[in-house]
Amino acid sequence: MEVFHKIVDIQNELAEVRKNGKKIGLVPTMGALHDGHASLIKTSVAENDVTVVSVFVNPTQFNDKNDLKNYPRNLEADGRLINNCGADYIFAPSVDEIYPEPDTRHFEYPPVSTVMEGAHRPGHFNGVCQIVSRLFYITTPDVAYFGEKDWQQIAVVKAMVKDLNINVKISECPIIRDKDGLALSSRNSLLSTDERAIAPTIYKTLVASIDFAKNHTVQETHDYVVENINSVNGLKVEYFSIVDGLTLQDVATWDTTPYVVGCITVYCGKKPIRLIDHIKYKEQ
Ligand code: PAF
Repeated sequence: MEVFHKIVDIQNELAEVRKNGKKIGLVPTMGALHDGHASLIKTSVAENDVTVVSVFVNPTQFNDKNDLKNYPRNLEADGRLINNCGADYIFAPSVDEIYPEPDTRHFEYPPVSTVMEGAHRPGHFNGVCQIVSRLFYITTPDVAYFGEKDWQQIAVVKAMVKDLNINVKISECPIIRDKDGLALSSRNSLLSTDERAIAPTIYKTLVASIDFAKNHTVQETHDYVVENINSVNGLKVEYFSIVDGLTLQDVATWDTTPYVVGCITVYCGKKPIRLIDHIKYKEQ
């Protein structure tokens, strides 16, 4: 496995790979890798000739300076995990390497980019599109792998790929959970022991709400989830939206569309740590 920090070096390397007709998989990450990332990397390794893992904490997608400052970073441990998963290259550029000039491009893909995370984290998806488009131009992947935990991010990235006519397949990989159901996230490492103990309530409540939904309305199910999670000292729901799985627009009834997903963001603890999760009520 080789590590590249400069755009020109990884581009030269991948130009050779392409010349030999090899298929390239890209796993974009912000580091602090866990088993969720490992599953993306292993899938890419199995499906492509060459796998590139990018490790870059992208400043333009953080709308909160403290969140950016506190985001966990550990390139050494990340390198070991990436190597163990069988990837070929790490691309770990500096901020100046990626953004020698401020990125003034503006991406907005309503309706998918403006609701939920888009409404609560202004500029977040603009930053995600800035970095992901650059990574696609730099590494020219055939397939790029994203975790379903960031449900809305996948919808936004797909809209961007279509808009910019980038020739890449977006592969969605299932959420990976700890034994107690907590969705794996780099942010989990920031939870104290007490916070870690209450965090699984989020998924437990989402699972319980599937049964509840069978004989309750969308609004009642919404309220059930929010009230149950908020009743735990230390947890505070930022939003819970029950939406169409493709357009991400709120549904009024269970019959509005064939594909219904509940997306939630919860603040956990004093700092607080922002955790996201989702549950599928109806699948396509
Ligand atoms: O999902 C993430 O970790 C990031 O948003 C991504 C896709 C690597 C872009 O910085």
